[in-house]
Amino acid sequence: MAKSDAPNIQRRQFLKFSGALAGGAALTGLSSAAVAKSSEGSKSFTPPTADNPIRICWNENPLGMSPKAQEVARATVVEGNRYPFVVTGQLQKMIADDYGVSPEHVLLTAGATEGIRAAIEALAAPDVQLVVPALTFDAAEETAKVNGITKITKVPMQKDWGIDLAGLKKAVADYNGPSIVYFVNPNNPTGAISKADDVEAWIKSKPANTMFLMDEAYAEFADDPNFRSVGPMLKAGVDNIILLKTFSKLFAMAGMRVGWVVATPEMIGKLREKTASNALNFPAIKAAIASWEDKPFIAYSRQSNETARKILLEVFHKLDIKYVPSNTNFIFQKLDVPLKDYQQHMKDAGILVGRAFPPADEYCRVSLGTPEEMTFVAKTLLDFRKKGWV
Ligand SMILES: Cc1ncc(COP(=O)(O)O)c(C=O)c1O
Repeated sequence: MAKSDAPNIQRRQFLKFSGALAGGAALTGLSSAAVAKSSEGSKSFTPPTADNPIRICWNENPLGMSPKAQEVARATVVEGNRYPFVVTGQLQKMIADDYGVSPEHVLLTAGATEGIRAAIEALAAPDVQLVVPALTFDAAEETAKVNGITKITKVPMQKDWGIDLAGLKKAVADYNGPSIVYFVNPNNPTGAISKADDVEAWIKSKPANTMFLMDEAYAEFADDPNFRSVGPMLKAGVDNIILLKTFSKLFAMAGMRVGWVVATPEMIGKLREKTASNALNFPAIKAAIASWEDKPFIAYSRQSNETARKILLEVFHKLDIKYVPSNTNFIFQKLDVPLKDYQQHMKDAGILVGRAFPPADEYCRVSLGTPEEMTFVAKTLLDFRKKGWV
């Protein structure tokens, strides 16, 4: 989506942010005030090197785990001789309580990736169709392929890289058999949301023989009021949703491999059969519990991401770089130069950006680092403009 096409909300947020810079504070002015406030407790910034680059290529959370989670994980290592099932129930219950469902509605997984895999494997059958947007996280498609699902329908994206809901609906309606719809909201790699009203209406219409795999890995970063989690629908008893979640993003636990699934108890039972029991490790589960309880860290994580996003958007606006409005911890940036050149110039500057995401060949996915890192990236982009590299 072109910058000028961005929804008003995006523009308003940008203006609000610009207002915070009253007094003519430039990009660098921002870096000291906003950055210092949002980065309490984070590692101090040192300029990147080839050995220690700014890693904004994999949608990781740059803050590191909650200090409380780190402490608990370290302390739990000494209990590594014990099976972890004494605490899995605790995490499962905490999550269930939050959604207002019973623990039987919740399955803990080794990251959302295992949840996606288990769901596809549980639903796979020779006549099943997987319906996916043409540009989205690829785990569902990859798992379907190795599980004998031959009918994979990829629905082209809209012009602005939004998900074509009507196209997905048509793919389901036109197929004479069961469908799995894999729906990432907000989507990766675009960062765009699909409107909750539309998504919910489709799910509630209960298309025959259709299961919705709703992947909300990035939901907590969304600030567009048109986005809503489908969590409350599960509480209300809707039975055609499998909700996939992760501790990798907001909670900064990608390396610990913890995720969860919410669905009906019957569906959770089917998914459980596709997971290894006790696959999660003790320190990771304890860290997840501590993270879940660490509300100040959660707020800090969200705030830091928002500040980082604003820093990058400010330089995009300054340089008239177009992008897809982001509701995630990354931004899909439109390039005027070949992606390979952009990646290389960034790499030479000590910054690793995202890979190619065909068919969006003119775009680069830039994950959001710390505000300090994004200030460095912003300065680098200003420098690139002088050299004609962006
Ligand atoms: C949409 C989406 N779902 C799931 C995942 C995987 O998350 P996890 O680390 O929990 O396996 C990612 C990772 O980037 C993702 O983008």
